Amino acid sequence: MNLAVIPGDGIGPEVVAEGLKVLTAVLPQDVKLETGTYDLGARRWHETGETLPEAELERLKSHDAILLGAIGDPSVPSGVLERGLLLKLRFAFDHYVNLRPSKLFPQTATPLAGRPDIDFVVVREGTEGPYAGNGGSFRTGTPAEVATEVSLNTAYGVERVVRDAYARAAARPRKKLTLVHKNNVLVYAGHLWKNLFDKVGQEYPEVTTDYLHVDAATIFFVTDPARFDVIVTDNLFGDILTDLAAAVTGGIGLAASGNINPAGDFPSMFEPVHGSAPDIAGLGKADPTATILSVALLLRHLGYETEAVRVEEAVSADLAERSGARTTTQTGDAIAVRVAS
Ligand code: IPM
Ligand code: MN
Repeated sequence: MNLAVIPGDGIGPEVVAEGLKVLTAVLPQDVKLETGTYDLGARRWHETGETLPEAELERLKSHDAILLGAIGDPSVPSGVLERGLLLKLRFAFDHYVNLRPSKLFPQTATPLAGRPDIDFVVVREGTEGPYAGNGGSFRTGTPAEVATEVSLNTAYGVERVVRDAYARAAARPRKKLTLVHKNNVLVYAGHLWKNLFDKVGQEYPEVTTDYLHVDAATIFFVTDPARFDVIVTDNLFGDILTDLAAAVTGGIGLAASGNINPAGDFPSMFEPVHGSAPDIAGLGKADPTATILSVALLLRHLGYETEAVRVEEAVSADLAERSGARTTTQTGDAIAVRVAS
C-alpha cells in the first residue's frame, strides 16, 4: 500500500500520526505500507508562495490514496489554501463523491433526546456547485461593488454522483435515498437534479426515494435524524449539512470523510471533516478519532473491508469506554491496541 500523506496545518500532523499508527497496526503482515509525505500548507506558502505546485500534483498521482490532516491557518488570507490546495486536489483528482458517514456510536455526546439510532451517509457532490469558482466582482472595493458566485451544475456531473448514491443506497439494508436541494428557489439547478434523480431512480426500483428542501432537511437532522439512510446533495448544501450531522453524532471530532474518484483514474483522498483548529495545535489535545475513521474509509476504498470494519469496531469499543480527558496519543494508542489484538 503506497500512500501519500499530507499532514497540513494546525492539528493536522498530530491526528495524521495517530491515523497512521492505527493503519500500521491493522494491516496484515504481508502488506507493506509505504508513505510519501508532502510538505503542503501554511508553512510552505509562507516560505515559497506555493500552494500546490504542478510537480507535486503530478507526484501525488503515483499513490494508491491520500491521507490528509487539515488545511488552513489564520496567518494565511482566507481562501488561499482552501482554494489553492484542498479544493485544487478535489477538482484535479475528480473527487466527485464526497462521502461523509454519520453514525451515533455508543456513549457519544448528542444533543438529541432519546439517543435515536442514527446511521446515515451523505453523498456530497465534490466538483461542481458554487465551489466551481465561477464567480467574480466588479466595481470592486467601491460602494457599488457587485459580486457573483455562480453555481455550476452539469448533467454529467449530477448524474454520476446521483448514480453513485443510488448504488450505495441499494447496497444498504434500508435502501432509502433522499435528495436534498432547494428547487423551489434554485429552479434551474434544482430541476436538473430532480429530473436526473427521478431518471436514474427508474433503474433502482428497490430503492425508496424522498426529496427535501435543504432548510426542511436541517429540521429533520435535529428532530428525526433516524429517518435518513443515504442523502445525495450538492457541494455547498453537503458542506453545511455534514457539519450539522457531525454535531448531532458526537461532534466534529468524530466525523470522517472520503473524497472519492470512483473510476480510480486518480487517487482518492481521506480526511477528517474538521479543520486545523489552530487554537489547540501542538497541545496534544486534538481527538484523532475522525482521522482514524477516515483511515477506515481509506481501507474500505482500497479493498480491505475486514480491516476497515476492525478499525470501526475498535473505535466503537474505545468510545464506549472513554472517560476523562485524553491526549491525542492516548486515543491513538488505545485504538491501535484494539485493532492489533
Ligand atoms: C470541508 C471544509 C472545506 C469545504 C473547506 C476548508 C474548503 O469545510 O471539507 O467541509 O468547504 O469543503
Ligand atoms: Mn465543511
